[in-house]
Amino acid sequence: MPEPERRLLPLLGRHSGGRDAMTCLYRCGNACDHPAPNQSGNAYFGDIVNAAVSRRGLFAAGGAGALVLGVGGSAVPAGAAPSAAPAPAPPKGGSALTFKPIPPNEIDAVLVPNGYDHALVIRWGDPMVPGAPAFDLDHQTGETQSKQFGYNNDFLCVVPIPGSDRRALLVSNHEYTNEELMFPGFTTHEALPVEQVRAAMAAHGMSVVEIERVGRTGQWQAVRGKRLPYNKRLTMLATPFRADGPAAGSAFLRTVADPRGTTIIGTLNNCAGGLTPWGTALSGEENFNQYFVGGDAVPEADKARLNRYGILTTARYPSGSRRWERAQERFDLAKHPHEANRFGWIVEVDPLEPGALPRKHTAMGRFKHEGANVIVARNGQVAAYMGDDERFEYLYKFVSDKRYRPGDRRHNLTLLESGTLYVAKLSGDSPPAEIDGTGRLPSDGAFDGTGRWIKLVSGTTSFVPGMTAVEVLTFTREAGDKVGATKMDRPEDVEPSLQSGKIYAALTNNTNRGVGTYPGVDEANPRVANKHGQIFEIVEDRGDHTGETFTWSLPIVCGDPNDPATYFAGYDKTKVSPISCPDNVAFDSSGNLWISTDGNQLGSNDGLFATAIEGPERGHLKQFLTVPPGAETCGPFITADDRSVLVAVQHPGEMTGATVDNPASTWPDGDYAKPAVVVTWRLDGGRIGS
Ligand code: FEO
Ligand code: CA
Ligand code: CA
Repeated sequence: MPEPERRLLPLLGRHSGGRDAMTCLYRCGNACDHPAPNQSGNAYFGDIVNAAVSRRGLFAAGGAGALVLGVGGSAVPAGAAPSAAPAPAPPKGGSALTFKPIPPNEIDAVLVPNGYDHALVIRWGDPMVPGAPAFDLDHQTGETQSKQFGYNNDFLCVVPIPGSDRRALLVSNHEYTNEELMFPGFTTHEALPVEQVRAAMAAHGMSVVEIERVGRTGQWQAVRGKRLPYNKRLTMLATPFRADGPAAGSAFLRTVADPRGTTIIGTLNNCAGGLTPWGTALSGEENFNQYFVGGDAVPEADKARLNRYGILTTARYPSGSRRWERAQERFDLAKHPHEANRFGWIVEVDPLEPGALPRKHTAMGRFKHEGANVIVARNGQVAAYMGDDERFEYLYKFVSDKRYRPGDRRHNLTLLESGTLYVAKLSGDSPPAEIDGTGRLPSDGAFDGTGRWIKLVSGTTSFVPGMTAVEVLTFTREAGDKVGATKMDRPEDVEPSLQSGKIYAALTNNTNRGVGTYPGVDEANPRVANKHGQIFEIVEDRGDHTGETFTWSLPIVCGDPNDPATYFAGYDKTKVSPISCPDNVAFDSSGNLWISTDGNQLGSNDGLFATAIEGPERGHLKQFLTVPPGAETCGPFITADDRSVLVAVQHPGEMTGATVDNPASTWPDGDYAKPAVVVTWRLDGGRIGS
């Protein structure tokens, strides 16, 4: 599809955190300008000598016992989508990816390889529910935005509609807003009319959109019409969520508006997520801290817990504050000190039940949740793998009490309400002296080692000295500190491969690693001032997702392949694409690993990459797609028939100095930048990538 090729303004405001300063301000409240909230003294393992021999060889068969179950219990991957035409069976063991890689570029367009096409599925402001008005840039209100697709789409998944082979439901997160790129004439948040504040609140949250296949291709488009029974917006403005699990109803969650502590309005700063085997979407509430004001006025005794989550307690307003307390008083902690405790959870949304109340699962802990991805263990319990995306934060695993029952959706909807929460503690197997901070491989040829899942809480039983179960679940970071969890380089998306059972985490970057008084390098986080990030692979011992021990390694240490401080699973580095700041991971049905990036530090637009992760092609990473300047590549979701790759183009044109009137990107419509969901397919109808 032809798109204008236009060279754009150079980035004006690269920020220490990796992205343009404007993105840092609005997405996470300039988290990188503040000291990392993890000030705990728990040891990093770089100073622990572990002479254990890697057990990788013993368990190389990976998670052979993991069940692969689809919606309704059929034996298909969780990412199943209806297929219009039969496609040949995928090759086994990780296929060679045949597309010609997209080179690094700064073009104001979505670029896909020759032989592929792409199209918009839905964009910010598109009407979504019956009666929704057409988007009107100059007259946005809370009411209109509540009926239109929200801003800054991030996580994506596609849920098949039972009984239909051509229709499915797209679920999308809307992480945050950038009022400078949304409202013409924007000056300051203090001066923004309250009705526009309400519009911005409504632009946060999630969307469920019915989509349909176009002909027999891999293209999907949003269904338009008067009858759209599944379509819904979940917003920060007005959508009630029900808290469940052991911390629901606790004193920490009670407020004046909700004295029972079980009904929370809205979901906030939703980043990545996951599709469950029973066809629901999980979504992580991430940088919720930046939305609250008045932290300076809370009782002194409560400030440490707010600080641990990055909530400012030294002044009334954090930098970039959207001043939501002007529209809803609950965002003022001076008046409603518990409101912040009601965010930072994993939420579960059932797209197939339009009237179902979305839920917040307190059993899965509270932190800056990037997302959660579920796999069914051999014994039927389900494990959810999760990252806390901030510098020096932790990796977590939740294991359900109950077991998955194929076909019993009502039962499966309760699986994440009770279980055991663990945090990861790692050891390296190389001498610490060989981890010198440059990224040079140790003498055994691998950054690798062993790990333990430390039990934090199980149901209402706490395993953390000095903390109750409710405290562990509500102040989970503090619990991780107390048990000495391993401080990681910003754990973003964590996802198990349903083909191998191995788990992959994107550790996006950590420019504070080993700098000043911050923790030094260790074998899992081996580079000082880590700008480019790494991929972290977990292999559960005996392939048991309910177990407490695992081995780990770094198959990819990101950056320019010409940089000796990079590693691509030993593959010939002259043949791989440069990659920086991995963020989201996904798998196709061959088990190839797909990685999207956020904050490319190599001077290119962000992109989507793919590599085989088993066999001789392991590490042969190639760039499949790039997004416009200022944007990050989110979502990625590959349908189970491998015919379609969907990506969320988040914050296009978000570059310092840009406004809606003076945009830095005109993607996708040639006027001003709009976040949008894009689908890519192969013109010859074949499987994507192969
Ligand atoms: Fe919203 Fe962790 O990126
Ligand atoms: Ca090693
Ligand atoms: Ca992310």
